[in-house]
Amino acid sequence: MSNNSIIIAPSILSADFSRLYSALEICEKGGAEYIHIDVMDNHFVPNLTIGPVVVKSIRHLTKSFFDVHLMVERPEDLIIPFADAGADGITFHIEAAQNPGRVIDLIRSANKQIGISLKPRTPFSRIEPYLDQIDLLLIMSVEPGFGGQEYIPGSTKKIKEIHQRLIELGLRDRIIMEVDGGIKLINAEEVTKAGAEILVAGSEIFQSENPVQTIQKFKTLGVT
Ligand code: DX5
Ligand code: ZN
Repeated sequence: MSNNSIIIAPSILSADFSRLYSALEICEKGGAEYIHIDVMDNHFVPNLTIGPVVVKSIRHLTKSFFDVHLMVERPEDLIIPFADAGADGITFHIEAAQNPGRVIDLIRSANKQIGISLKPRTPFSRIEPYLDQIDLLLIMSVEPGFGGQEYIPGSTKKIKEIHQRLIELGLRDRIIMEVDGGIKLINAEEVTKAGAEILVAGSEIFQSENPVQTIQKFKTLGVT
């Protein structure tokens, strides 16, 4: 995997919700390819965030890829609403799905990029049966629920192991690896070296003095 293929996915969870338009403008100016949208339901995680109505209302503001991260129970109920609202990719949590195959089928039938996510303590073996059906694997490097948490150090080892396992299975070129939680300019290189191709970053971008420049800095890290 070459180092210059890093994609940065700003998480708008850390943006000012009264100014989502300017948050998207920042992402565009910085050259972010993905917009990471954290959906929380107050059941799977304690927090409650963005629904399809919001996604629909901001869809026309940007052409960037809408990377919807569902941290919800019963994800099957929300695939079509988010697909209709303008998601480009939908990622659900393996821990939340009673029937992951059905969720995958729904995302596929909506013609969206299919993603599965793992919480920090969930072993990779949980998703192995579905690997041939997914496009993206989202590895959480914090407990899902809130922005601004510290990167869990053991995540780097887990990313490396998953990267290696995907190589062994001959799936490394087919599945894109995304890492989410506590990503900062200071650890971005470590995470990409371990195998991540998409880095989600919320607080590091939106709480910085110059968010556009921070996105650009992330992107330069990926240029060899
Ligand atoms: C956490 C979310 C993350 C979060 C990232 O549950 O899935 O996407 O917004 O925020 P930072 O980069 O601040 O950890
Ligand atoms: Zn997320």
